[in-house]
Amino acid sequence: MVEPAGPATADAFARAVLIGLRQPQKVIPARFFYDEAGSALFEAITQLPEYYPTRTEAAILADCAAAIAAAVGPGRAVIEYGSGSSAKTPLLLRPLAAAAYVPVDISGEFLNQSAAALAVQFPHLPILPVVADFTRPFALPAQVAARPRLGFFPGSTIGNLAPGAAIDLLRGFASLLGPESWLVIGFDLAPGAGKSVATLEAAYDDAAGVTAAFNRNLLHRINRELAGTVRVDDFAHRAVWNAALGRIEMHLVARRDTQFTAAGQNFRLAAGETIHTENSHKWTPAEIRLMAHASGWTPAHAWTDNADRFTVQLWRHHDGALQP
Ligand code: TRP
Repeated sequence: MVEPAGPATADAFARAVLIGLRQPQKVIPARFFYDEAGSALFEAITQLPEYYPTRTEAAILADCAAAIAAAVGPGRAVIEYGSGSSAKTPLLLRPLAAAAYVPVDISGEFLNQSAAALAVQFPHLPILPVVADFTRPFALPAQVAARPRLGFFPGSTIGNLAPGAAIDLLRGFASLLGPESWLVIGFDLAPGAGKSVATLEAAYDDAAGVTAAFNRNLLHRINRELAGTVRVDDFAHRAVWNAALGRIEMHLVARRDTQFTAAGQNFRLAAGETIHTENSHKWTPAEIRLMAHASGWTPAHAWTDNADRFTVQLWRHHDGALQP
């Protein structure tokens, strides 16, 4: 779909819902998950026993942060895309001797709380939060204009974009971060030796129902912000592995014929019809290398857990030197 431009304001949400729910396959763009309630639910997801990516990535980062610090050197401005709670940030910052930390997140309130908590741990580090949708152009704070940069993009958030959009975003990072920059980025790996499809699907459909609540929060959001009349209980949470497209898909499935109004318009779904709310692409190492090269980066190091579930990589801005 053509997503409306601009930040995730109530107005942008209304436009996205009105467009997305008129498509043959109904869609609500995933970035609207992250209102205050959604951001809190997402943090709860990262603690679930089934949701292996967060703790796997954190363990890899704890192991490789010193090597990253040695490779990139001191005095960098660290720009974190989609910083959320900044839970993994200390793992990277501790060995780094950074000049500044710039967390960028769409949820302003959450961002400021996280920045305040981080300031306690790093009292001498300038912390310069930016409220922005990082998939759109935004400006870095003037204080870091003259600093070499290190981008930080953990959480396999890149997987929430389709491959073409992912490459566009990574190319945008390269141009914002500049010629001497580095990028630390996490990818959730495709199913294979160390990971079954069942493990993957369980990570997006936990027994306690937290991911289901996170998904349904979009419907509550329609009711809260768009004067909606959605019967939330008419919708079930579904997470399925789409092998052809290499991604987990999350949907809200109508359990029965249902209809509602939102932003003054009527919508109806037949039983079994779905609203597609999220994709989480999983990548092979070869696809990851290709994405790096396609977007102006050169892979420098890759670290993987011993079950081959997740990889954290250090990429160098492509130097532009003539190639054979
Ligand atoms: N990007 C992560 C992932 O795809 C986190 C995430 C985004 C997520 N939306 C989610 C996790 C919805 C669970 C449910 O895994």
